[in-house]
Amino acid sequence: MPVPSMLFPADPLNPRRPDPHFAWEARLVRELGAEHLLVDHDALLAGRAEEAVRRVPLGSGPLWYRGWMLPSARYAEFAAALTARGGKLLTSPPGYAAAHELPGWYGVFEGATPPSVWIPTAGAVPPTPEELAEAVARLGGSGPAIVKDYVKSRKHEWHEACYVPELADLAAVGRVVGRFVELQGEFLAGGVVVRRYEEFERADGPDGDGLDGPDRLSDGDGCDAAGAVGGAGAVGGARGGRRAVEARVWWLDGRPVLVGPHPDAPHVHAEPDLTEVSALVRRLGCRFVTTDLASRADGSGWRVVEVGDGQVSDLPRGIDASGLLASLIAA
Ligand SMILES: Nc1ncnc2c1ncn2[C@@H]1O[C@H](COP(=O)(O)OP(=O)(O)O)[C@@H](O)[C@H]1O
Ligand SMILES: [Mg+2]
Repeated sequence: MPVPSMLFPADPLNPRRPDPHFAWEARLVRELGAEHLLVDHDALLAGRAEEAVRRVPLGSGPLWYRGWMLPSARYAEFAAALTARGGKLLTSPPGYAAAHELPGWYGVFEGATPPSVWIPTAGAVPPTPEELAEAVARLGGSGPAIVKDYVKSRKHEWHEACYVPELADLAAVGRVVGRFVELQGEFLAGGVVVRRYEEFERADGPDGDGLDGPDRLSDGDGCDAAGAVGGAGAVGGARGGRRAVEARVWWLDGRPVLVGPHPDAPHVHAEPDLTEVSALVRRLGCRFVTTDLASRADGSGWRVVEVGDGQVSDLPRGIDASGLLASLIAA
């Protein structure tokens, strides 16, 4: 079996080098004896996949990607352009979409993740009041909730565009959803998701101090395309302020190969119970995924906050990723 090579986004300012955000991972891959190859992220995003992969040698064989998030349609073009050059992404386009977009993984994780409903939208057009009322009714009609799209939230605009204190207040739901859609603009992925809000355990300390704002870290939650909705920082909850303790678990072929902090709070450690989620990850059937897990404030156990494609989930700075990268290379 040939050893998979690893694709990274090139530095836009110096296309022969990896993007500075991924340089340490690329170096580690090299030290582990595998090859890293570079792709042009801006060209991928612009729908010019052939141009994006022109530095990938012909016949490159099995490939993993570690890079910025791509919309599922762009990932499919990426995969096709690599296939045309004799390369093969080890995560298929349907596999990517299943892990990357909430409607793709929700059916498998239902019961282990906050109850959620979604409304597909045609671009950045907000759902109608009728569509929202119907979605809210499917979610039980009352209680607090959060709003996001199929991939990302606007957690840094928590009160304005993420948190809904009471679903029964349909006018307020409409305002938060409307503002969310407006802020996402052309980057809105898929449609609007509404999820029941659950109270998670929160951390104090340097990463749990409740300071919002993109000044804290870069793109903690997945490698955002163009940083459009990224940023990081703590999120306020219903109680405002302190960050939920989240662990990010990295799964390869159904096995947890790395359990670490969430990149938004690299110093907050948690030891999640993986019993239930292991079976769900195996049922999802995607080779390389992440799950962000939070512990319920009432002590009733761990919840899956989000699932992600492992190729575009961010690694916290300072983490020892050699085991994870070695597993990918051996896969
Ligand atoms: N259903 C929920 N109940 C309580 N808090 C939530 C819920 N969903 C998300 N959050 C909080 O909001 C943050 C952002 O939500 P998440 O779904 O992870 O979106 P993003 O992709 O933008 O990170 C989470 O890290 C968590 O702290
Ligand atoms: Mg998240």
